[in-house]
Amino acid sequence: MDLPFDGAISKFFETEAPREVREAIRRADRGDILSTTYPHGDRMARKPYEKELAVLQIELVKMQAWVRESGARVVIVFEGRDGAGKGGTIKRFRANLHPRTARIVALSKPTETEAGEWYFQRYARQLPTAGEIVFFDRSWYNRGVVEKVFDFCTDAQRQHFFHQVPQFEDMLVDEGVHLFKLWLNVGQAEQLRRLLARESDPLKQWKLSWIDVEGLKRWEAYTQAISETLERSHTDVAPWTILRSDDKRRARLNAIRAVLHGLDYDRKDEKAIGPVDASVCGGLDVWDA
Ligand code: ADP
Ligand code: AMP
Ligand code: MLT
Repeated sequence: MDLPFDGAISKFFETEAPREVREAIRRADRGDILSTTYPHGDRMARKPYEKELAVLQIELVKMQAWVRESGARVVIVFEGRDGAGKGGTIKRFRANLHPRTARIVALSKPTETEAGEWYFQRYARQLPTAGEIVFFDRSWYNRGVVEKVFDFCTDAQRQHFFHQVPQFEDMLVDEGVHLFKLWLNVGQAEQLRRLLARESDPLKQWKLSWIDVEGLKRWEAYTQAISETLERSHTDVAPWTILRSDDKRRARLNAIRAVLHGLDYDRKDEKAIGPVDASVCGGLDVWDA
């Protein structure tokens, strides 16, 4: 079967990947954590993961009932490098929610019309109405990261974005929108392992784009752009929650916990939610380039 991009990910792995990354992937067993700085030695096992997820799903359903009854508006922004696990985490959030009131927004590159608008305009159009939860799979933060790394915007446009983003988010919060900003942080070897898996899986190939392939070569530029973006947009009103996502299971559970802890819904069971694992979920201190 034909691989997209003529197996460009495998080719990058063989010829261009840093030696330590290549060796870490070659040496690893399927279940190994690849990051050397990840705070847990092993990936979380399936059984406890499924058990904890099931409990959290019940809390999510209660949370959604509250959103609908109270007319709350909830925005959850998912950011992170390609392969960080944004789509998979959103999928777990939504597993038992009403598809219409828990809506995903995954915008493609701006059209010509959109490119002529205020940068935030097309995102503003997608904001929730009363009773809705909107999941942004990528967001206005494109201007901080991918648009910088691929020169899709000018430096002046990006500086203007950094100037406006706290104001934009202040307005949302001031308006009563419950805003969560989750940054999924994946290590270099784990990212490459996931993209290799995508390339060889016919069910996952659709997730690949030339940006992913080119992006692999620009790890450091991404690191720089992400670091700057986080520093400039982590505010008291709209702070980032950083999740170390080298283990997808822990990342998903803690992402859900972080959101549930941030909302005051009826019949909330704090004990069932349980504390977030502060070693993989927290503020900027959790970010590990
Ligand atoms: P995804 O990771 O969402 O599957 P890609 O990795 O292909 O998508 O692209 C990453 C992001 O870059 C997307 O949000 C996409 O809309 C954006 N993007 C791609 N091309 C451009 C462009 N020419 N200008 C601005 N943004 C772009
Ligand atoms: P995925 O990246 O979700 O497609 O997972 C690839 C493979 O790794 C699957 O067979 C998973 O069961 C396995 N896997 C993913 N995460 C874990 C984990 N936390 N513990 C054990 N196996 C895992
Ligand atoms: C990922 O982070 O795994 C994907 O790139 C997220 C997505 O589905 O957009």
